[in-house]
Amino acid sequence: MREIITNVATNKKPVWTKKDLLGLEYLSREEIELILHTAKSFKEVTTRQIKKVPALRGKTVVNLFYEPSTRTRTSFELAAKRLSADVINIATESSSIKKGETLIDTGRNIEALKIDIIVVRHNASGAPNILAKAVRSSVVNAGDGRHEHPTQALLDMFTLKEKLGNLEGRKVSIIGDIKHSRVCRSNIWGLTKLGVHVTVCAPELLIPEGIEKMGVSTTSNINEALDGADAINVLRMQFERDSALAFPSKGEYFREYGITEDRLKKCKKNIIVMHPGPINRGVEMSSEVADGTNSVILEQVTNGIAVRMAVLYLVATAKR
Ligand code: CP
Repeated sequence: MREIITNVATNKKPVWTKKDLLGLEYLSREEIELILHTAKSFKEVTTRQIKKVPALRGKTVVNLFYEPSTRTRTSFELAAKRLSADVINIATESSSIKKGETLIDTGRNIEALKIDIIVVRHNASGAPNILAKAVRSSVVNAGDGRHEHPTQALLDMFTLKEKLGNLEGRKVSIIGDIKHSRVCRSNIWGLTKLGVHVTVCAPELLIPEGIEKMGVSTTSNINEALDGADAINVLRMQFERDSALAFPSKGEYFREYGITEDRLKKCKKNIIVMHPGPINRGVEMSSEVADGTNSVILEQVTNGIAVRMAVLYLVATAKR
């Protein structure tokens, strides 16, 4: 697998040096491209009859999820297993976390079991950064509060590159609950570093003040967001947080911002429709769009395995 890392088109032989993956804010364009390039090689592995390589044999990955997850947790588990690592899933509901153990104490105790990588999802923004400072093991952020969800954005970019090739100069619109979305923040960091023109679109109350400083355009007009877009990334309305307060009802949100077949007819013919999941059908988009020919939603999920294999491999073999 070492050849894969060194045999990049640039001939610059980029090398991964970071212990952790905490967010795309902290990565250079070259580091993002290295992950995506490595993921491409691992995707080939996942199409083989025997979908397993010995790259991380003898390493142990711990999934430490303080929030619910279907896609991310399963995808990290599969990714680790396809690299021949051992995997432990800690169910926070039945762990000593329920007795008040702190994140750092939990991390240090897990580390005392001689593990190598902790994949953490937490409701507090910055929790993975705190954990990474407290342990020698690699820490991979699987989503923290409103901060970042780096592997989701990486798999979104990987899927876009598969469909569009070079992303430089492309237009991607992110539509939905911008304010509460860690997926949005990671996508903005990553896409802008790859030269993509990003527009964020939401009702005014769901666009955080100052987001333009991240290098994006903003609009509350869905037609503006769709016009000329090569791809849209439609975010979940987070009714478990306070996004519901920003709009009178789900029906009205769908009428104003929902992605429908009628709206897609006015877009670029091959516009790519993405969603990180879970979808609220009939709120963010219609079922016809979610299951339609422009949708790559399930391809995103599939690509998540290769992207997470790349991330686990790179942090575990980092040249530090
Ligand atoms: N996209 C995403 O993070 O989904 P899960 O919450 O199911 O992991």
